[in-house]
Amino acid sequence: MRSPAVYGNWKMNLDFVEAVHLTQELGVLLRRTPLEHVEVGVAPPFVDLRSVSSVIEADRLGLVLCAQHVNEYEAGAHTGEVSLAMLERLGVGAVLVGHSERRRLYGMDDALVARTLARVAGAGLRAILCVGEDLAVREAGGEAAFVAEQLRAAIAGLAEGARARVTVAYEPLWAIGTGVVAEPAQVAAQNESIRSTLAGLGFDAPVLYGGSVTAENATDLARDGALDGFLVGGASLRAEAFHAICRALDDCYASTR
Ligand code: PGA
Repeated sequence: MRSPAVYGNWKMNLDFVEAVHLTQELGVLLRRTPLEHVEVGVAPPFVDLRSVSSVIEADRLGLVLCAQHVNEYEAGAHTGEVSLAMLERLGVGAVLVGHSERRRLYGMDDALVARTLARVAGAGLRAILCVGEDLAVREAGGEAAFVAEQLRAAIAGLAEGARARVTVAYEPLWAIGTGVVAEPAQVAAQNESIRSTLAGLGFDAPVLYGGSVTAENATDLARDGALDGFLVGGASLRAEAFHAICRALDDCYASTR
């Protein structure tokens, strides 16, 4: 396991008051039981970023502020969009790129994922590149090839200097928000395949798993999933559960060193 990290993706949940509350609750837990090794980040909705950033700074929480998406362009006539410079001004340190909900519901294709990845990683922020197959692909046994293609499409043209800032999150669509978690062995197999695709591209990146991760399954996944961390949706909306997931990874990392 390298650079262990857990990121909470709050999706379109929590207004800024609720977001402040959750961040403070998380801060209390992190102070009470600090983590030794794991980097923790939260990805609130855009409109909560300023408030969450204030709490992180004021309480010195050491959390990485993440964004869930960003526009590919620098600035200009893009009604409803948010630029990377705006996020940087707010102290955002990492951005999710190509989350399956962006790909599936908002038409983000491989080419747009690649351009967005280049924008984020090229500017010096951590880019959390999300990949993963749907159930039909998995049932046909095509998951490794499908994800390898997603990786190649996103990464092949990335500048040398930007590469170190990419983290890959393997998130099978059939496990996202469904309560159906992938078996640790399935995660391990896919993560090994991701690593070998990356190696073929001259790459090495931390690989996270996401999809119905909970405090209950995090230890097994951390131990047997050949992963470097988690991208957590639903369970990141509850401070206790999210903190327990971070601790499970932290304990697992400590025990393997
Ligand atoms: P989930 O979401 O943990 O609610 O399954 C994960 C994600 O979409 O990042």
